[in-house]
Amino acid sequence: EKGGHDYFMLKEIDEQPEALANTLRGHFDRGRIILDEQRLSDQDLRDVDKVFVVACGTAYHSGLIAKYAIEHWTRLPVEVELASEFRYRDPVLDRDTLVVAISQSGETADTLEAVRHARAQKARVLAICNTNGAQIPRESDAVLYTHAGPEVGVAATKTFLAQVAANYLVGLALAQARGTKYPDEVAREFAELEAMPAAVQKALSTVEQVRELGRKLADAKALLFLGRHVGFPVALEGALKLKELAYMHAEGFAAGELKHGPIALIEEGLPVVVVMPSPKGRAVLHAKMVSNISEIQARGARTIVIAEEGDDTVRPYADELVEIPAVPTLLQPLVSSVPLQVLAAEIARARGYDVDKPRNLAKSVTVE
Ligand code: M6R
Repeated sequence: EKGGHDYFMLKEIDEQPEALANTLRGHFDRGRIILDEQRLSDQDLRDVDKVFVVACGTAYHSGLIAKYAIEHWTRLPVEVELASEFRYRDPVLDRDTLVVAISQSGETADTLEAVRHARAQKARVLAICNTNGAQIPRESDAVLYTHAGPEVGVAATKTFLAQVAANYLVGLALAQARGTKYPDEVAREFAELEAMPAAVQKALSTVEQVRELGRKLADAKALLFLGRHVGFPVALEGALKLKELAYMHAEGFAAGELKHGPIALIEEGLPVVVVMPSPKGRAVLHAKMVSNISEIQARGARTIVIAEEGDDTVRPYADELVEIPAVPTLLQPLVSSVPLQVLAAEIARARGYDVDKPRNLAKSVTVE
């Protein structure tokens, strides 16, 4: 039933192109983005003047990625918050606030309570969920199902990519309603999204390389992950995967923060995974990142660089180079996350752990 894979998580990693295609299917019709099960009218969407994204764990990381796209496309302010913090903080909400609650299971207690809090304050709540009829969509004003299929591995993989894609759909629907993007621009953005399952399929060609790398890193004491822009939440997610599966100390940092503290952690042989921005799409950030890598390499770090194919400038700084396909900047997390998922799973396996059932964790967290 693992479809010839050593563990379910690897099967689910492999299913990501299909999951992504299923998330996107049916959401563009006659030149318009359609959010099905959408009980919010176009007028409701036009009235939105602020967006909150609330979620936990991996779903929260998908929200952090969404912020870059939604703000850029809609010019609406977007705040992304851990559901467990949101409701105890007295956030400023009213009927023109859109709260996007992201939850694979749809049963996460903290996210559910955040939804209840938001609705009690008259905010509109849109759930992004992978489980039909779960409690969070039932209590929300509208729901966008990710249709990634059931996920057996406790560590979220295909549902994460599906959440990221669903978030992009919400961003485009808002841009369309508000007129911050012309219809032909919305159509173009959607076409770029539709090209992503094939790009993820290409990113999967790194699996064997990364599995071997994972076996080599099994004895490391800790790992760091660095990213910038949308690569920053990808770094956080890479670190979370490693903690939950390999029980290793792992941290994700915004590379710009290095000099403000984390660089003190760098020591001889410490593996550092770097998610490179596109050299064309984000030339300035790319150059800054190259200088970050050279700094950590000079201090003895073992650099594992995830970079766009053909990005030759990073070669001298990469002890290991993992090449991912070139895609539009905002969509890069869909491909750069793939090697990080495989890395965490394979380090865990090499350390002798059950990748599908990590200790102390449950697939859905129904207590606060
Ligand atoms: O079902 P949810 O998306 O609400 O779950 C949220 C988190 O518990 C979940 O993403 C968790 O972090 C996963 N184990 C990550 O792999």
